Amino acid sequence: MVRKRTCVFISGYGSNLKNLIKNSRYQNFPIKISLVVCDNKNAKGLIHAKKNSIPYLIVDTRKRNFEHKILKKLKKYKISLICLAGYMKIISKKFIKNYGKKIINIHPSLLPKFKGLNTFKRVLKNEEKKTGCTVHFVNEKLDGGLKILQKSFFIDKNYNEEKLKEETQKLEYRAFSEAIIKIFRYS
Ligand code: GRF
Repeated sequence: MVRKRTCVFISGYGSNLKNLIKNSRYQNFPIKISLVVCDNKNAKGLIHAKKNSIPYLIVDTRKRNFEHKILKKLKKYKISLICLAGYMKIISKKFIKNYGKKIINIHPSLLPKFKGLNTFKRVLKNEEKKTGCTVHFVNEKLDGGLKILQKSFFIDKNYNEEKLKEETQKLEYRAFSEAIIKIFRYS
């Protein structure tokens, strides 16, 4: 099996990146993490790229041409899948069109519910009984692309934001990898 060369975009802690790197050590996992892109030079998650000798690119999103820089790197590293894992910048329509290959994102809610930021706070405020995470393809609509898979759990009435995040992220680690296996199953 030729493993797809994949780039993971991060902004912060990088626990999803860490987990994808771990799973990509299995020979039958369909992807190999070949590049990391980060829009925050102080992101804790960069440690996972460094520790695993994965090339990384830090971009300054205040610069007008930053997406062009990313596209050039993606080409250089022959990247055929982008995984957005906590990347806080919205990808432009132009980027999506110019890249032209698969981009997937993980979101900490059962989309189409709770698109956007501050998910956990809104889930609690809305007194939801159930929540979870969604892996979906990225299109020009925020958190609006085709769903690949979702995982859910019931919310205990004692859960606070922190606990909700913890439980959601446990599911995310499985969901991201299962979604990747699902999209490459027949290729
Ligand atoms: C994840 O919870 C994901 O759902 C959201 O951002 C968070 C990133 O966490 N899009 P980490 O940086 O992977 O730890």
